[in-house]
Amino acid sequence: MYRTHLCNELRKAHIGQTVTLSGWVNSRRDHGGVIFIDLRDREGITQVVFRPEEHPQVAEQSHSLRGEDVIQVTGVVAARLAGTENPKLKTGDIEVVATELKVLNKAEVPPFPLDSKVANEDLRLAYRYLDLRRTEMAQNLRMRHRATKATRDYLDEQGFLEIETPILSNPTPEGARDFLVPSRLNPGTFYALPQAPQQYKQLLQVAGLEKYFQIARCFRDEDLRADRQPEFTQIDIEASFVTEQDIQNLTEGMLARIFREAKGIDIPTPFPRMTWFEAMDRYGSDKPDLRFDIPLVDLTDIFGQSEFKVFRSVLDNGGVIKAINAKGAAGAFSKEQLKKWEEWVKTEFGAKGLAYIRFKDGVWDSPIVKFLSEGEKAALAERMGFEEGDILFFGAEKWEPVVTVLGRVRLRVAELLELTKGNDELNFLWVVDFPLLAWSLEENKWVAVHHPFTRPKAEDIPLLEAGEYGKVRAVAYDVVLNGVELGGGSIRIHEGDLQSKMFTVLGIGPEEQQKKFGHLLKAFSFGAPPHGGIALGLDRLVMLMAGAESIREVIAFPKNNRGVDLMTNSPLEVDFKQLREVYIQSTAKKQP
Ligand code: AMO
Ligand code: AMP
Repeated sequence: MYRTHLCNELRKAHIGQTVTLSGWVNSRRDHGGVIFIDLRDREGITQVVFRPEEHPQVAEQSHSLRGEDVIQVTGVVAARLAGTENPKLKTGDIEVVATELKVLNKAEVPPFPLDSKVANEDLRLAYRYLDLRRTEMAQNLRMRHRATKATRDYLDEQGFLEIETPILSNPTPEGARDFLVPSRLNPGTFYALPQAPQQYKQLLQVAGLEKYFQIARCFRDEDLRADRQPEFTQIDIEASFVTEQDIQNLTEGMLARIFREAKGIDIPTPFPRMTWFEAMDRYGSDKPDLRFDIPLVDLTDIFGQSEFKVFRSVLDNGGVIKAINAKGAAGAFSKEQLKKWEEWVKTEFGAKGLAYIRFKDGVWDSPIVKFLSEGEKAALAERMGFEEGDILFFGAEKWEPVVTVLGRVRLRVAELLELTKGNDELNFLWVVDFPLLAWSLEENKWVAVHHPFTRPKAEDIPLLEAGEYGKVRAVAYDVVLNGVELGGGSIRIHEGDLQSKMFTVLGIGPEEQQKKFGHLLKAFSFGAPPHGGIALGLDRLVMLMAGAESIREVIAFPKNNRGVDLMTNSPLEVDFKQLREVYIQSTAKKQP
């Protein structure tokens, strides 16, 4: 037997009992020959004391202990001396006076301290097994476990079945690149790792399973960011005979359960709803952060007759003028910084400019103010609530670039003014009525905004038939939390002919449809029920619950920004023989 108790368990009531604990040496202090050890296991910390006058041999042995050594200690629970109790520890009233010590394993000095913040993430990732010993990381993983368990419990109670779908699968378009796996048994062919279980979960509806869920691993070969990993986890849901309202209600109930059980807080439901158009028009984002109110305000009517050439020519060409008011930001931005912002929007988003007016020391300080009439200035001040200390930022162009750029400026302003700092609000939102299709300039064709299986709104089907693709709305919805896209879903197309039409609009001809999606189209011919679903990013959800800055903080073994696992050093080069077995020839060399 390694232990009688865990390191968070002993209290005053145990005084006098002989106990055995096992764990790691968290810290060691030498008080004139009396050695104190903080012994740590997964659950907590217990102080162990080695007294030379009572147990000289054991005390002698304890001199060799170092941080992270793995030990087993037997001893008697005793009250701490009055005044030396530690109220921060659950076991802070007692200590264990050691009578026996067994060193189970020695540890080398760790490459970084385990009891404080470590700045170097690469180092943390290389020694992830040590990093995970830190309380903060262990707590994150615990929270993730509780969130997953709450999800399973809730969905089980709602009649959902957890069903696994293949990892070696066929390509399903979710907008990223596929990871491919060569098939040794079928030379020259490849599996794709699933970007999402989208097609399988729909096929499970055709199969009559009605309510499916899965804590699903997904794989996407895309550029990585703080909230993106090449492999990540979805809470993936699909059901038959449901409306979008049903899926949204279910999602809200599930999130409420998760927050209650994993974080101990009640979140208000239902969440507010906003159409995609309103979100873009007013906040310049399809995942608006509404914890701060800086809206994009339309000024098109005010500048209709303007002498200012930039604004006038934009309006004459069917563009719009909008502005945001960065309240109280005038002091925070120097002229040089404002110049830099202009450069930033130009290089980053291809904007034509970023006109501004700074209200400082009673004057409107701006390169454009000399072009504005008194009437325009008065109307502008009134509409924008423009006051001493504020800065207005203007976007003048076609609607889409204007809202996108001002949406980004809005976020940067909030970041610089620290508008969400110390704010523990959880701002949930449904963004609904997404467009079905968007024109891709890069690919020079129509692409699906969500994925090709998303259902057009019934009332917009005539627009689809008429070729007005940009105007067709989808029965698609995203759930947003504090400006992060937590999940997205839709009601699906369940009719073969509509699905085929959709593929055609996306430039997938009949032959390619059969090759890539023949199984789905065939399945739809055998009585597919109306169905729909959603998938939530579990990593993002837990990241937000834990107040972490990156999903890497809530994943046990994440990859870094270059997709490398620094602990195992994967991906690795493989030898010629292994490649030959799967009929692959590599011409690339691993970069050092
Ligand atoms: P979507 O592509 O929107 O939808 O993905 C759903 C959610 O998964 C999370 N997510 C990611 N998390 C971490 N790293 C990534 N690389 C990553 N990519 C996506 C996001 C996102 O909201 N099959 C559809 C869902 C459906 O229609 O039911 C789908 O996968 O939180
Ligand atoms: P210019 O006359 O080109 O020097 O522009 C005067 C000011 O208007 C500068 O601050 C530009 O950044 C700004 N500006 C120019 N084009 C646009 C635009 N399309 N949207 C917003 N501001 C613009």
